Amino acid sequence: MLMKAKKPQKSSPVTTAVFPGSFDPLTNGHVDIIERASEIFKRVIVAVLFNPSKDALFSQGERVELITRQFARYKGRVSVVSFSGLLVDFVHSTDSRVIIRGLRAISDFDYEAQMALINRKLAPQIETFFLTAREEHSYISSTVVKQVALLGGDVSGMVPKVVLDALSKKRLERDRLRAKPLF
Ligand code: PNS
Repeated sequence: MLMKAKKPQKSSPVTTAVFPGSFDPLTNGHVDIIERASEIFKRVIVAVLFNPSKDALFSQGERVELITRQFARYKGRVSVVSFSGLLVDFVHSTDSRVIIRGLRAISDFDYEAQMALINRKLAPQIETFFLTAREEHSYISSTVVKQVALLGGDVSGMVPKVVLDALSKKRLERDRLRAKPLF
């Protein structure tokens, strides 16, 4: 549970960073960014977007739970919450003024730069920090992981074990539903 914090001033140094995303599902690329951010900031808040219009495989609760389980050993240093509405409003509700985003390739840059510029326009005191993805994660995206996993492909090098198990369960559920006679 986050307390409504006082808007951080531009000059005040911060110890908390917010890492927002859809995380449908969490990938090894996300895990790496969260781990690296937690070595720089005392606390990382993973903010899971609630977006009812997006066709998500995992519910918001499932996504929060999977990330929480993955980072259980980080205790208070990594916390996982869900948010809806504007990201900058969420960041204002914390004691942070730093947004972390990962960059995998040049092709990510246009979208990420646009988001960072819009967020700065909305809230000039909030800064976006980019961390470059490790080379071995540069081809991984939640979209690709979902597609491959649901078609029975091996995604074990792309997601943590908790997510791998959850993906297998989803696939089994889906196959069971498809196998059911209609009447
Ligand atoms: O993992 P994603 O889907 O690339 O994350 C995108 C996210 C959640 C960071 C972005 O869609 C977002 O901030 N949404 C909240 C609405 C908002 O603030 N929009 C204005 C900035 S684009």
